[in-house]
Parts: sequence; C-alpha cells; structure tokens
Amino acid sequence: MAEPRTLADRMRRHFGDADHVYAHLLHGMAADWEAGGVVREICRGWEAAPAGAVVQLRLLAGLFRIVLTGRAPQLEPFYPCLGGTAPPGDVWPVALPVVAAHVEELHEALAVAPQTNEVGRSTALLVGLFVAVRRLGLRRVRLLEPGASAGLNLLMDRFRFEGHGWNWGPPESSVTLREAVFGAVQPEDFTIVDRRGCDPAPVDVTSEQGRLRLRSFVWPFQVERHERLAAALRLAAEDPPVVDRAGAAEWLAGRLDRPVDPGVLTVVWQSVTRQYWPATDTAFVDGLIADGLDRMPLAHVAMEYPQVGRPYPAELVVRTTGSDAPTRLGTVADHGIPVTLECCP
Ligand SMILES: C[S@@+](CC[C@H](N)C(=O)[O-])C[C@H]1O[C@@H](n2cnc3c(N)ncnc32)[C@H](O)[C@@H]1O
Repeated sequence: MAEPRTLADRMRRHFGDADHVYAHLLHGMAADWEAGGVVREICRGWEAAPAGAVVQLRLLAGLFRIVLTGRAPQLEPFYPCLGGTAPPGDVWPVALPVVAAHVEELHEALAVAPQTNEVGRSTALLVGLFVAVRRLGLRRVRLLEPGASAGLNLLMDRFRFEGHGWNWGPPESSVTLREAVFGAVQPEDFTIVDRRGCDPAPVDVTSEQGRLRLRSFVWPFQVERHERLAAALRLAAEDPPVVDRAGAAEWLAGRLDRPVDPGVLTVVWQSVTRQYWPATDTAFVDGLIADGLDRMPLAHVAMEYPQVGRPYPAELVVRTTGSDAPTRLGTVADHGIPVTLECCP
C-alpha cells in the first residue's frame, strides 16, 4: 500500500471506514484540512511530520481532553466511555464548532506525544511471575520496571485476576481482570517487597494533568480499557508508584547494583517499551540482564513485539537465573488481554 501523502490522507487511513467516533472525526478533520479550514490552521507546522508521530492521534487526544474537562458537553453523547450512545456518524457537525473554538489549544496539543499505561498488560507480568517464582522457589519479589510510564503495573499485586479454575489477588480490588489468559495457569503465592520503575517521561498519577493525559490517549470507544485505567488510577492515588525520570539503561544499572537480600527474587519487567529505546540502550540492558542472572536470583519478564519483519503479536518471554535460554511463554494482545499461553514450564 502506498504511503499516505498528506495529513488528510493519514487521517482518513488511520481507522479507514470503521464506524466509531474517532473514524468519523478523522474523516471530518481530513475534509476540513483539505478545504483549508480550522484543522489546517491547527496543524500548521506539522504537515511534514513523520507518519510515526501520528499527528492525527495527538489531535484527537487534544479534543478528547477538552471533552474530558467538561468544556464540550455537546460532544459527550458521542463518547461511549462517558456513557454516550449517539450515532457516531453524526459527530463531525457537532465537533467542528468545538474545534474552531479551541484552535490554539489544539495546536499546542500536537506537541503532546501519545503515552499510555496499559493495566491489562499486568496479566502478562503475573503469568511471568508465576513461572519465575516456581522456578526459583523465592516468594519475596523486588519488582523493577523500565519504561513504566505512570507505573500502574507496579501495583499488580493490588489487582484481582480471575481465570478458569484459578484466581489471584485481593477479591475486593477495583481492578479486576477476568478470563485474561488462554491456557493452563498454575498460580503461585508471592509478596512484592520492593517496587520501582523508570521512564524518561514519567506520568504523575497524583496530578490531574497526568491522569488526564493518560485518559486522553485511550480511544473513547474502548470502554473496558477506560474502566480499567480509571480503577487503577484510583488505586494509585492511595499509594502512588515511584517512577524515576530516567532511561532504561542508566537506571537499571543503578538498581541492579544495589545490595539485595539473597532471599529476594529480583524481577525486571518491561512491556512495549524496547522499541523506543536507543539501540545502544537495548544492547546495554541485555548485558545488564545477562550479568544479573549470574549474580543474583533474577527473572526478566518481557512483553515486547518481535524485531523487524514479524511485528505482531507481542511475545511473552521469561528468562531466569539457572536457565540456559529465554522461554517464550506465548503471545499477548496489544493491550494485554488475552495472554495466549503456548507452554507452561
Ligand atoms: C507504549 S509505552 C508503554 C508503557 C508501559 N510499559 C505499558 O505497557 O503500559 C512506552 C514507554 O516507554 C518509554 N520510553 C521511551 N524511551 C525509553 C527509554 N530509553 N527507556 C525507558 N523507557 C522509555 C516511554 O516514555 C513510554 O512511557
């Protein structure tokens, strides 16, 4: 398929002919851009941005923030995550005056890069933790997460997981992940005794702005993702995760150098972050993990897309001290659910 040439092409192509609010908004925005309307003015300076900058998603998120902050009540009926049930095909004539009234704010919104924190991916972490705990026989865990975003998955022991014939986590948790794994799961007991993450752009869950940013990049027709995020944000408000502002390589080197009780299992967990790291950092982190596996009880649990050529789906891979090679446990859907197990060592 030929590369879309203009921003309007990208807007139309992003969701194609899907029948949801974002597809209809993008078709309206594309037509307005081509007609030289307010969308053209908002996108000034971004015409030559690389496709990977996904300018169209930045624009939608900017508009969503206006809706989420109650400044466009006439649009709320089109946003399913806000309870809206209006026909999505009717959205653009209602949205255009809102867009026209916020040209400068939406222009500034284009500078905000998409960033999410997918709570569903904690399912992959849990499955990897079960394997690591079983293999190493240690039940006190130090959890380290490079590329943690807001750090919501560092709170995974406060989430409830329910599968066929198994469950794990506090039954009263407001974050409940049901039937999120295909395949046989053998739960293990463990306690997280220490937890910490890093990210070059950590999202502060204690700030209204941070929470708004995360919500605005979750598509509004994905109601369950919004519900999971909202529930996790409520948990995080009580006990915010610590996410240091740092890249994976320097941070992990520092954390793995710290003394740790030999009875504690160190688990390095990462999800959908490696693709953003400089290649030198990836190689450096691989070296840190290899060295750590020799020096301490350690597990590396990763949900990442395979390298160039076979980009989908994400793989769940675990590597533990004492095992010769990484084990591919299965595949994981983009937002973490479902995890499809292929083997359960
Ligand atoms: C797609 S998000 C995934 C966030 C989280 N791991 C999750 O699964 O919800 C990718 C994250 O990687 C972070 N990132 C980018 N470059 C990085 C680096 N060099 N080291 C660590 N994290 C990085 C981004 O800031 C972003 O928060």
